[in-house]
Amino acid sequence: MSRYSSVYRHAIDQPAQFWGEQAQRIPWFTPPTTLLDYDAQGHARWFVDGEMNTCYAALDHHVENGRGDQPAVLWDSPVTASKARYSYREMRDEVARLAGALAGLGVSKGDRVVIYMPMVPEALMAMYACARLGAVHSVVFGGFAPHELAVRIDDAEPKVVLAASCGVEVDRVIAYKPILDAALALSEHRPEACVILQRDVGEAELGALDHDWRTLVANAAPADCVPVKASDPLYILYTSGTTGKPKGVVRDNGGHAVALHYSMEVVYGMQPGEVFCSASDVGWVVGHSYIVYAPLLAGCTTLVYEGKPVRTPDSGAFWRLIEEYRVKVFFAAPTAFRAIKKEDPEGRWLARHDVSSLRTLFLAGERLDPPTFHWLEGLLEVPVVDHWWQTETGWPIAANLQGLAPMPTKAGSATYPVPGFDVRVLDPEGEPAGVGEQGAVVIRQPLPPGCLTGVWHDPQRFHSAYMAAFPGYYLTGDGGYFDADGYLFIMGRTDDVINVAGHRLSTGEMEEVVGAHPAVAECAVIGIHDALKGQVPVGLVIPKDGFDGDEAALEQALVARVREQIGPIACFQQVLVVPRLPKTRSGKILRKLLRTIADGERFGIPSTIDDPGSLEDVHAAMCERELGQASQARQG
Ligand code: COA
Ligand code: AMP
Repeated sequence: MSRYSSVYRHAIDQPAQFWGEQAQRIPWFTPPTTLLDYDAQGHARWFVDGEMNTCYAALDHHVENGRGDQPAVLWDSPVTASKARYSYREMRDEVARLAGALAGLGVSKGDRVVIYMPMVPEALMAMYACARLGAVHSVVFGGFAPHELAVRIDDAEPKVVLAASCGVEVDRVIAYKPILDAALALSEHRPEACVILQRDVGEAELGALDHDWRTLVANAAPADCVPVKASDPLYILYTSGTTGKPKGVVRDNGGHAVALHYSMEVVYGMQPGEVFCSASDVGWVVGHSYIVYAPLLAGCTTLVYEGKPVRTPDSGAFWRLIEEYRVKVFFAAPTAFRAIKKEDPEGRWLARHDVSSLRTLFLAGERLDPPTFHWLEGLLEVPVVDHWWQTETGWPIAANLQGLAPMPTKAGSATYPVPGFDVRVLDPEGEPAGVGEQGAVVIRQPLPPGCLTGVWHDPQRFHSAYMAAFPGYYLTGDGGYFDADGYLFIMGRTDDVINVAGHRLSTGEMEEVVGAHPAVAECAVIGIHDALKGQVPVGLVIPKDGFDGDEAALEQALVARVREQIGPIACFQQVLVVPRLPKTRSGKILRKLLRTIADGERFGIPSTIDDPGSLEDVHAAMCERELGQASQARQG
């Protein structure tokens, strides 16, 4: 505890000095002299006058310092029955040639490149090639539909799009190229070129705008690393907010590299040369930070997995990976382990594998629910660590710090704030909440290096979404509390963001899609508890006056509409037509109350409700359709 306390206090009390020391651990072309600065709105800017290149720090630097032959990237793809291995030298050379190809298409420093790719090594190469040129990548997750891709293309305005011909799910090949073409037909912005990686499992037909990836790279000269300012953007990653328009979280180069390097050692306890596996996707922040960038910045080997925790081919998939690649630290979302637990509650698959290399299992993406925590703890002989963070922070805000001071674990808690994050819990008036009292979890400014530096093209949204609620603090959007021992418990979002199978989604966005259907007068989309996925969305819909169509057909049409416009990843499968919705007198739908009922909890009738009868209607409709646990909900 004392080691933790002294390091933590140092980071909070003397942030510039603390992070200045950490900054010395990454290679700079021009070391920073201004360590911590503030922009006009008072937001932290780290290492502003330093110059570096993230690709150089992660690849070239290691090759020049003796790691050239060490594996940098291992790829395991049960869905295509393929494996591959790239040393640091091979990665550097592949990336340099791809960067040369991009430069040949006119991509240079500051230009944006959208990447729409599955879990293949070329996705990492694409990200690093952009970083090498100082271009700004924006990776879009493969499970999103054309409309979502189009929204991101319009916002990021890429010069070039890099895509694969297809992705592979458990039971089907998903052709990415038609999704890209459909997105480009919807978007107003026109990229100058698309570069398509043809995969054996499903080749795409190329059009006038398209280049074949391999031909282009084969003919390209390698490009050198372009020095960028620490504060120049490395990437934009879109994440769900409370409105239909996703937020383009902007990450800088210098602070990001320093923070990730620090986290590999202090949070994850990793040493250079060891194998790290994060079973996420390059389309999410976990993938950006802990598949692509952090392991290589730290001189480790990253294992890239194109498969699922179950069904590819069985629920021993993760244990096999750990055994085969001697993985030291494995990181996945709790939902993945709930899927394994469902199929293999006794851990029979685990018993078939030698997982003795494993030192720690990390979980994030949603709260590690106590039953899953206890199941894993009983199964494995290593620490099972829940840690909390978000797209905006880019690295963990709270964790059990394996490389600094491991603590006893408490089920349901992400343990302590990570050095650099001054985490507070505030009540609605902005006063500190008491011990054990739930409130808004906020982070006192300055945010440490690595956190978002803005919302792309939208400084006003950056301020209003994160900084305006409690001046001087960053609003995480999560609710939670500290217990008497200082352990932090994160209990869930306080806004319209839901977490479905470790994927962050906006119910507000789904409401916009559902509400735009011509037969819908009003709707609410809420996230309800789901034993496997944590939460799933449910739509409650009031048809327009005079609607005399088939309600079941309307429900199906709305399910199809969300799948078509947002994508299968929304898992929007349940819609309920209701006569009215509970609202306050000012017309606000009481979504929290709807969630409470659907989750089978005791509920009270708020004094602000306009029409108490509406609650009974909704409750009855939920019970009739056996929605969630609604039949157990009781008024009280
Ligand atoms: N491209 C295209 N479609 C995708 C996709 C991708 N990259 N990823 C998922 N989908 C599709 C799935 O095929 C599924 O389609 P369906 O409705 O036709 O079956 C749908 O999106 C929903 O996917 P998902 O919620 O992942 O459900 P699943 O049943 O396929 O898998 C889990 C369930 C729990 C195994 C899986 O969600 C999982 O491994 N989650 C971990 C998530 C994670 O790592 N998150 C990162 C944060 S750490
Ligand atoms: P994302 O931006 O997709 O990483 O999602 C971030 C959100 O997921 C957070 O704001 C939390 O609501 C939730 N989350 C992620 N990890 C955890 C965790 N370990 N405990 C509780 N909630 C988590």
